[in-house]
Amino acid sequence: MKAALIGSRRALAVRSSDVRSLLRYAKDPAMVSLAGGLPSPELFDIEGIAQATEHALKQSPVECLQYGMTEGQAALRHALVGLLEKRGIHATVDSIVVTTGSQQALDLIARALLDEGDTVVVERPTYLAALQALSLAGATYACIDVDDEGGQVEQLLALAPDPRIKLVYVVSTFSNPSGTTMSRARREVLVRWAMKHQVVILEDDPYGELRAAGERVESIYSIAASIPGASDWVCYTSTLSKIIAPGLRVGWLVMPPALVELVARIKQAMDLHSSSFAQQVGAAYLESGRLPGHIERVRTEYGKRQVTMRGLLEEAFGSKLKLRHSEGGMFLWGEFTDGTNTRDLLQHALEQGVMFVPGDVFYAADPQGNAIRLNFTSASVERLELGVARLQQAHRLFASLTKAAA
Ligand SMILES: Cc1ncc(COP(=O)(O)O)c(C=O)c1O
Repeated sequence: MKAALIGSRRALAVRSSDVRSLLRYAKDPAMVSLAGGLPSPELFDIEGIAQATEHALKQSPVECLQYGMTEGQAALRHALVGLLEKRGIHATVDSIVVTTGSQQALDLIARALLDEGDTVVVERPTYLAALQALSLAGATYACIDVDDEGGQVEQLLALAPDPRIKLVYVVSTFSNPSGTTMSRARREVLVRWAMKHQVVILEDDPYGELRAAGERVESIYSIAASIPGASDWVCYTSTLSKIIAPGLRVGWLVMPPALVELVARIKQAMDLHSSSFAQQVGAAYLESGRLPGHIERVRTEYGKRQVTMRGLLEEAFGSKLKLRHSEGGMFLWGEFTDGTNTRDLLQHALEQGVMFVPGDVFYAADPQGNAIRLNFTSASVERLELGVARLQQAHRLFASLTKAAA
């Protein structure tokens, strides 16, 4: 049998993540990576996690090491109710399903709601690995554009009612990749539209706690809770990845009752349950009271790095690079106004020793070739300075070559 013939149509149709394939260049210590979405390794609370691990093993050895419930460990689900309360989200233990990272939450919701060819509304641009999960479930897409106030949900109002639209997926706060936050007004328009058309919203919120400036915006989930009948249409997912550590692979979904049982059934088939050990460590860490101080340290450092990178980019590129407004998270999003194609620029950037992600990978349709996603969390301020200087040099070389060829 020819190797090329092995694989289902769906599997073969899913494109590999360009972000993950770029990671191999990041192994070179001389390379400045502005590409991945990695939390800063120096900021991991190793001591706190070691204490939480010891505590979990001593206090709950069986819960750590034995098979557990598909919906998740009781200790973690209780701790998550408390964490969510601080975000203004009133969830019950029974409305939460723990997942293997929030990536699995995307996969579960896609499998639970979509039949082949169903439509999902996504932002342009949106999170690449969400597109992978949705496409594996057979999704087709309708897109809404993004501006400085997040996804332009007003564009939904122009869509003809269509029973094949089953889901709206949004990264509501400090989006990956655009860094933008959807305004309160738009969130409410979205909730009312979804309720009217009976479409589920999946609010993906890994970055909301990483606010460096400005005021917190109420979650779509809690806006829906204040509108009679609306909460049946909103699911919320978040994760410990960006606030504690991605290696734990602990995320969760908060859902209306009708979806909890369905999602748990699908998860049984996928992995029985998420790691008991990681869940107990996560629960012990949340109960230890260290999280608020840890998040404060991370927010302060990321805020510094974001301001530094924005300043450096503005100085290096001026009006040639239009940057999106962002008040936190892990990414800056730019669009070149001088005709630069960022996929071509990347080749020169790699030669100069800096890498980024070309923006075109984040589009479900009509990719924009002039866009660039830059991560500011995984490199120190000094490395960011070096990275932007190299990017500027790569852009200069690229611009002069393009001019010469014209
Ligand atoms: C928007 C968004 N959603 C979900 C995830 C998945 O995170 P995890 O599976 O580590 O919780 C990421 C990771 O970068 C992300 O950026």
